[in-house]
Amino acid sequence: MFTKNPTSHRPIRSFVIRSGRLTNSQRKAIDQHWDRYVVNNQSLSQPVWPMLSEKAELIVEIGFGMGDSLLEMASDEPTKIFIGIEVHRPGIGKLLHNIAENKLRNLWIIYQDAKEAMTNCFESNSIDKILILFPDPWTKKRHQKRRLVQPDFISLLTEKIKPGGVLHLATDWEPYAQQMLELLEQAEGLVNENGSSNYWEHPKRPTTKFEQRGKKLGHGVWDLLFKKSVS
Ligand SMILES: C[S@@+](CC[C@H](N)C(=O)[O-])C[C@H]1O[C@@H](n2cnc3c(N)ncnc32)[C@H](O)[C@@H]1O
Repeated sequence: MFTKNPTSHRPIRSFVIRSGRLTNSQRKAIDQHWDRYVVNNQSLSQPVWPMLSEKAELIVEIGFGMGDSLLEMASDEPTKIFIGIEVHRPGIGKLLHNIAENKLRNLWIIYQDAKEAMTNCFESNSIDKILILFPDPWTKKRHQKRRLVQPDFISLLTEKIKPGGVLHLATDWEPYAQQMLELLEQAEGLVNENGSSNYWEHPKRPTTKFEQRGKKLGHGVWDLLFKKSVS
């Protein structure tokens, strides 16, 4: 688990801690709301699990960036529980500000590398939906090992999703989309909801900040939706 000021790094990470300064509002939100809304595997059981025991659906977004689309999803579906995982402190500050401002009671944050958070914080077969929207594409060949969507990570996510639950990925980098499609088609226990080898043409989700940036640069968008088999 990271502290509020992480210093340690593992050899291969799917992210670089960006040095972007916190705005006053982000810093204030971190100071005021961190303890209430940022959970780890110790504290997750306190606010979150009582609501889950009421059979609320659990949705997890990995790498929510500045958090605007996660906020929109959680606001639109107040009876579902949302957990966002992120390592970018300005994004966490912004989302904390917005959670408090909008008085949301169904959205929490985990500040940790998603690979560790998924291993430590969630039971097997416990998540209804996992979203990874526009993960860093790591376009240079020598960096591709840093891509988040890798066979081991897909296996971990599949283990944590409930039978019948789904994994929703999106990217604006076509070679990464092709790699995702290939890996997910091969993954044990996952079935393409749009038919073998097909992307999701009309995905149901908010537009994200990174997606808007890509569209301005003329990038396409590829969404993938895979369901965990029930057997
Ligand atoms: C390209 S941005 C996209 C952000 C947002 N989903 C969007 O579409 O606007 C990818 C985000 O994933 C986060 N990220 C990358 N690897 C991560 C990891 N292993 N654990 C948690 N967050 C990660 C980065 O910090 C970054 O904010």
